[in-house]
Amino acid sequence: MNHSDQPDSSSRRPRHIAIIMDGNGRWAKARFRPRSIGHHAGARAVSTCIDTCLAEGIEALTLFAFSSENWQRPSEEVGALMQLLLRTLDREVGELHRRGVRLRFIGERSAFAPEIAYRMTQGELLTADNRIMTLNVAMGYGGRWDITHAARALAQDVADGILRPEQIDEARVAAKFPLHDLPEPDLFIRTGGERRISNFLLWHLAYTELYFTDILWPDFDAAALHLALAEFGRRDRRFGMTPEQAHAELKG
Ligand code: FPP
Repeated sequence: MNHSDQPDSSSRRPRHIAIIMDGNGRWAKARFRPRSIGHHAGARAVSTCIDTCLAEGIEALTLFAFSSENWQRPSEEVGALMQLLLRTLDREVGELHRRGVRLRFIGERSAFAPEIAYRMTQGELLTADNRIMTLNVAMGYGGRWDITHAARALAQDVADGILRPEQIDEARVAAKFPLHDLPEPDLFIRTGGERRISNFLLWHLAYTELYFTDILWPDFDAAALHLALAEFGRRDRRFGMTPEQAHAELKG
């Protein structure tokens, strides 16, 4: 993961998109329906988003489906989300595999029921060799959890004598994250009107372009994603450099 991994300046297409899919509950409320109906509509929007990213040649898509904090939601809503995840996995994994998508889950897996954790692992194993696109689904995920795990893994390496503390640098920290083999997200999208990162990919979003839209997630269709891509294409990414340096690096 480094800045030479950024998209080439001619196309200005993100290689990696990360999305907080917010607004399912409000979408349902506006229709006088239970929140679970909003999540079902949200799952359909996930399919549309994956289709669009595949059509656009996006290499990696990371979706925040369930945060570590979402466990605190009412148990009926958590249960409905888990059922939805199970059914979506059963229905979609074969099709994702056929289309060359590598599926990965990031987050604290031990918190999930064994049948769900098993299906996650099965989906990952089936699709592990696919490279058309990587779909990371963040479940039971938090950015602080991710950083804490990386710190623990480094501490373990030091304790095992394979690493000295002074050898710890940004590259070695980055290597401990589950997304270590992908370019950092170029574009972050949050639907639903809030302008927060909400403990998503805290380490990885350091130089990501942030895009916020009031559109509720179930309404986030291909046209809405194209608007975000067009806005990304107009952004001037400098990574802390002067405009001249950044443009030279982009060309090089
Ligand atoms: C946020 O909306 C959304 C969630 C907490 C769940 C996201 C789940 C899906 C999009 C569907 C399932 C996904 C997969 C990968 C199968 P919210 O409930 O916080 O909405 P609100 O802010 O309007 O209340």
